[in-house]
Amino acid sequence: MQVVRLASETDFDGWRRAARLLRGADVSPDDALWTVDGGGDLFGQTTELAAAAASFTVPREFVEVAERVVLHSSGERFALLYRLLWRLANEPNLMHIASDPDVARARDMAGAVSKAIHKMKAFVRFRQIEDADEETYVAWFESAHRVTEAAAPFFVRRYANMNWSILTPDRCAHWDKVLLTFTPGADPADAPSEDALEDYWRTYYASTFNPARLKVGAMQREMPKRYWRNLPEAGLIPELVKAAEDRTSAMVRQTPSEPNRRVVRQAQRLSRDASFEEGAPTSLEEVVAGVDFCRRCDLWRDATQGVAGEGPAKARLMIVGEQPGDQEDLAGQPFVGPAGKVLDQALAEAGVPRTELYVTNAVKHFRHELRGKRRIHQTPKTSEVTACRWWLDAERRIVRPRVIVALGATAALAVCGKPTQIGKARGQAFQLADQAQGVVTYHPSFLLRVPDAQEKARAYAAFVEDLKFAWSLAA
Ligand code: URA
Repeated sequence: MQVVRLASETDFDGWRRAARLLRGADVSPDDALWTVDGGGDLFGQTTELAAAAASFTVPREFVEVAERVVLHSSGERFALLYRLLWRLANEPNLMHIASDPDVARARDMAGAVSKAIHKMKAFVRFRQIEDADEETYVAWFESAHRVTEAAAPFFVRRYANMNWSILTPDRCAHWDKVLLTFTPGADPADAPSEDALEDYWRTYYASTFNPARLKVGAMQREMPKRYWRNLPEAGLIPELVKAAEDRTSAMVRQTPSEPNRRVVRQAQRLSRDASFEEGAPTSLEEVVAGVDFCRRCDLWRDATQGVAGEGPAKARLMIVGEQPGDQEDLAGQPFVGPAGKVLDQALAEAGVPRTELYVTNAVKHFRHELRGKRRIHQTPKTSEVTACRWWLDAERRIVRPRVIVALGATAALAVCGKPTQIGKARGQAFQLADQAQGVVTYHPSFLLRVPDAQEKARAYAAFVEDLKFAWSLAA
């Protein structure tokens, strides 16, 4: 039996070196025992094996899967990977045989790890350490797999100008604005528990929680209970669920309000100088987190929060509006106010299920002016639409819809990249650069404003027709 001693639980390089030697020396998977002892001494008896270093290539798909599988918490991962590597010598197409139990297991494990990385990006919450010399933030996080090192570069890009540490039971990551370092796992007691940011996250979560859309099952799928203890806002969930009915009717009656200054101030502080130039988002969770802290234009200053799109990651049809309105700005979701009601009704009449659409906006922050206590909508400037296309383009790349419907002139500008006259261009499809088909139609707020009743009914009927047409194209 050959015993391999790896330096750490995620020692992919060590596994690769050892696996190469073992395969070169013809050691069968049944004769290899994989252990982690922290020493990094590859073998108990290295000498005769070292001479047998083999030169062979492996398919890229295998390396991609293996890099993920190594981060899985299962104890079988190193042996499983070696078994695959061993079999690849005689079965070069092995990785394409989805029904093969070893391949299926490895792909499942790789998928679970990718999911854990996404969850970490979405659910890490930093807390400020009050007594630190410099402003410093710490987060405690527990993941199902060993993904701290894989996820850390994302936090470096997002919080480049903050000192932060992410503590996990397996591994801790630290960023001092220059260097990213890792230390062994931490005790939960090392994470500060009470602080001002906790309030911030609670406020944020309570304001984005839309009781009208409450789906406890879906909520738990997205935010499994395992993560709740990392999240200050999770304490609100039972209370919010209980109060959902009351809040639904309160929301319907809600009048325009002033921006939540406290939330805005906290978000400013948290994200000051954050760099967004590199690292375009590759998942919708990253879009949600990034939009809220976007500083690509000045609209964030007076908005409560950034509002990203909403809907399945693989929706066939994407609907693009102009920008969040007053209620969307408070709720953190697109099209939940009066324009959203018109859209919902038209979608229902067109037989298009909203749950299957990805609904977003050209501009992600609410542009408005204050008149007394009222926040009055203002059309976004072209420069703001251009700045925000970075997010819309990311959403388009991730969702890859077959059809994109632009509601109104601002959305058409963002989607097509040039001014479009809605009255002339509506009712037909055109090709977009990303291979999606484009359809433009009226904005629901325009329909609400048409003064003449007959004209209004005609425009609304055309709007329903356009939605029906777009849905048939997407089928
Ligand atoms: N108008 C829009 O364009 N988008 C919304 O989300 C709400 C109103």
